[in-house]
Amino acid sequence: MKKMLNVVLPKGRLGEKVYDRLERAGYACPSIRDGSRKLVFENPEAGVRYFWVKPSDVAIYVERGVADIGVAGKDILLEYQPDVYELLDLGFGRCRMAVAAPVDFRDDPRRTLTVATKFTNIARTYYASKGRDIDIIHLNGSIEIAPILGLSDVIVDIVETGATLRENQLDVVETVVPISARLIANKAAYKFKREAIDDVVTRMAAQLEDSV
Ligand code: PRP
Repeated sequence: MKKMLNVVLPKGRLGEKVYDRLERAGYACPSIRDGSRKLVFENPEAGVRYFWVKPSDVAIYVERGVADIGVAGKDILLEYQPDVYELLDLGFGRCRMAVAAPVDFRDDPRRTLTVATKFTNIARTYYASKGRDIDIIHLNGSIEIAPILGLSDVIVDIVETGATLRENQLDVVETVVPISARLIANKAAYKFKREAIDDVVTRMAAQLEDSV
């Protein structure tokens, strides 16, 4: 019996795109297309089992070895620093981590800067590298509202199209880091299922070349 490859995917648009690519690469699991609300799907013939989880939880499943491989945004990898291998930049799910502020904001370096964000580690590391003194306010979502209501001076958040910033009269002040989706692997699984995992990497990478 073929060893199953356990693959964890982020629920939502990004995950669906990743699944399309995996299907084209030969890892189809037709029951996924049934539109059910199940979270685990498998195709023993193709030797693959898929799990759908919240995007920010993908790396946890891979780090703990419940999944052998998965796809996570670089933002999550930078923020949580999971102990996993990053095997491939998939080149989609592109956006950037940025500092944004109200359009009339002027930074006063003599004052501590208040920064609202979901990504406290990324923000801390970024401002530490600039030697800027900050006060972090951790929020769980709708970050853009913080500077509007005076909760913070700036935000550190993901910007994709820029529409959310525009509609809330905020501007990008600086880009912190570009983000895209990454194929990641559990370290032990990469030893024991090396061949199967390398096959996925090769086939996914071939699709990237085709799309250039
Ligand atoms: C993300 C991010 C921004 C928005 C940026 O939010 O936090 O709010 O997308 O996209 P845009 O530049 O295309 O407007 P998400 O939808 O993940 O929800 P959140 O409020 O939970 O962060």
